[in-house]
Parts: sequence; C-alpha cells; structure tokens
Amino acid sequence: MSIATNNIAFNVDEIRKDFPILNREVNGYPLVYFDNAATSQTPKQVMDAIVDYYSNYNANIHRGVHSLSQEATDKYEGARRKIQQHFNAEKAHEIIFTSGTTHGINLVASGFASILQKGDEILVSALEHHSNIVPWQMLCEKTGAVLKVIPMNEQGELIYESFEELVSEKTKMVFLNHVSNALGTINPIKKIIDKAHEKGAAVLIDGAQAAPHIKADVQALDVDFYVVSAHKMCGPTGVGVLYGKEEWLNKLPPYQGGGEMIATVSFEKTTYADLPHKFEAGTPNICGGIAFGAAIEYMNSIGFEAIARYEDELLDYATLKLQEIEGMKLYGTSREKTAVISFNIEGLHPYDIGTLVDKMGIAVRTGHHCAQPIMDFYKIPGTVRASFSFYNTKEEIDRFIEAVKKAKSMLS
Ligand code: ALA
Repeated sequence: MSIATNNIAFNVDEIRKDFPILNREVNGYPLVYFDNAATSQTPKQVMDAIVDYYSNYNANIHRGVHSLSQEATDKYEGARRKIQQHFNAEKAHEIIFTSGTTHGINLVASGFASILQKGDEILVSALEHHSNIVPWQMLCEKTGAVLKVIPMNEQGELIYESFEELVSEKTKMVFLNHVSNALGTINPIKKIIDKAHEKGAAVLIDGAQAAPHIKADVQALDVDFYVVSAHKMCGPTGVGVLYGKEEWLNKLPPYQGGGEMIATVSFEKTTYADLPHKFEAGTPNICGGIAFGAAIEYMNSIGFEAIARYEDELLDYATLKLQEIEGMKLYGTSREKTAVISFNIEGLHPYDIGTLVDKMGIAVRTGHHCAQPIMDFYKIPGTVRASFSFYNTKEEIDRFIEAVKKAKSMLS
C-alpha cells in the first residue's frame, strides 16, 4: 500500500473554507469530523441556496399561478434535472424526490407487493444496512415470497460465486448496496445487475454510501432502481431521490395517496398523475430538493475523480497508521473500498474508544452501524468507524491516531 504524495490539483485548504463547521471546537479541541458516512458536512454554497429559497421565493410548487410559486417550481424542477444529469438518467421523470434512501427503498418494496407471488425469491446481500433488509422482510411477510442472502467473506466482500448459485428464474428481485456503510466495501454491482437480468430479476441498488464518492451512471449500469440521500453528499437531511426506469415506475402502484399525485379525483374514481408526480404525494421538501441540486453542483465543481483520488490517499494513510497500534483489528479489508475504516482494539469496547476520542474533539461512529448481520458475522457487538470526506486532512488523521493511542492507554 503506497502513500501517494499530496494531490496538487486538490487544494484541501481552499475547500475547507467552504465548510464553516470545520472551524469550531468540540470539548476544547478543533473539531475533527470523521463521521461522514452518517452525515456529511454542508458547504456555504448549499446553505446559501437554502437561505435564498426562504429569503426570496418560498412558495408551494406546481399549484400557484403566482410568480413566486412559478419561480419555486422552476428551481425545484431545475434541481431534478441537475440530479438527472448527474446520475445520467434518460428522463427527468425517472427521478422521484423522496425523504431519503429509506423512503426510496420502502416505496419500491411496497410497490412490489402487487407483483410478487408466493414462492417467488428475492436476494439480499449480507452487507446490507437495516433499511435494505427490513422492508424486504415485511414484503415477504405480505406476499409469501422467500428472502435469500448472498453471503460475505472475512474481508467483507460478497461471494460472487454464491450469488451465481442462488440466482435463478425464481428470483424476482436482487437488492444490495453499491458501497457498504459499515465496511466501505465497493460491490461489483455491474456484474450482479447483468447476471440478475439474465434471469429476469429486477435490481435495486442502495447508493447512499457510494454517491458521495462515486458518480454512478444509471444507464451504463442498466440498473432498475438506484436510491440515494442528499445528506451523505453535502446536502441537507430529509431529502433524497429514487431513480427508477420509466417502465418500472409505470408498473408500480402509487406509494402514498394525496394531493399532487392525482390527475382527477371523484368519490367514484381517482386517476393518478403521470411520473414523477404519481410518487410525490403532498407538499414535498421543496427547499431540500433545491439544496440537493446545489450540493450536486458543488461536488461536481470539485470533481468526483479528484475526490476519489484524494480520499484514497487518506484511506491508505490512516490504514497504515492504525495498523501500527498493537491489538488493532480492522474489519472490511476489501481491495475495492471507499474511505471507511471499521476497527476494534483487542479487549476494548468500541463505545469506550468513541467516547474518549470525542473528549478530544474527534467525531466517529461506534456500534453496529445499522448493520447487525455484519457484526454477527464477525461475532462482535460493533466497531469504531472513521469515515473520511474530501475536506479531511492527513493532519486530522494524525490527531485521530494520537487520540486512539491515548484512549487505549487510558482504558488498558
Ligand atoms: N446509515 C448511516 C450510517 O452508516 C446513518 O452511519
């Protein structure tokens, strides 16, 4: 593993100026924020979009003839088009605004209740977040479909050969994440999508953890559904999108009933609106959608290739340094991974390490990371997880390593 020299094209000092929160102190120390896989920080450019909305054109969309409403509608639909272009969806109406990844998955799972039959099979990976397990279990309870699990190996990688054995003409759906939130493993989704399609199964990819690092092209992937959250990629919480192929979105019934999603309503019969409105009942998170568009624009202005290169440097650097600590056990050592490090130190509880490094101003996540099956696989209660973003630095990693060493000596 080599430590590349600092990427000259990537000026992290300049980038950090966009993130006011990085200047604050926590417990008397300058904040080191390494919980990016839970929520990324928000640049000024996105905050400006939020303030601009509420200062200048706050109004409901698709409803008013008045100018403010039309302005808000134009900006909201403009954000949808930015997101469409980012993920290279063929049509803007294949982008459905949601409250986040969990909402997107539940929307699809609920729609499949009218498609699946008793005995149909659906495949989930062993690497999933609870949000990509529980909705499918609920679907199986409703329909009598059978849930099967694609197993993982010790490195935290899916076992592709087992997937090939499991997938069959009975398989109606396959769902897995692009990147594991707990381990950072990048899954071979293209291979899996192609194989699933050979058998006639649809594929949903949870892109929540990939989207901050990898620019997914939904047409090149030929994926049926791809779901993301804004708050992992410099946007606000409470908003995300579901990409769905038009033919699938037309096939699925509406998820929620209400205003906005109808064409006509009478007590005898209601007809539904066309895409994307069919799936967007009620007043949406208008400001959130617009801010999500601004976040995507911001990340693209930095460039996803530069982001990935820089984050890889941080990952390599931190991995080497952490391994120097005695008793260190890393989980998730896939060759293909994003800048996430999950670890434990022999004899110590992850919660205690997390609490002590917080006292030194460092934010990491501890616990099962909403991925209990992964923890069960390793027979551990949880891990300490440090997840990096493009605004983090090697100096912050040095502080983190020192803090972990100090925590270890205090707890041993
Ligand atoms: N899914 C988020 C995480 O991994 C909350 O931390």
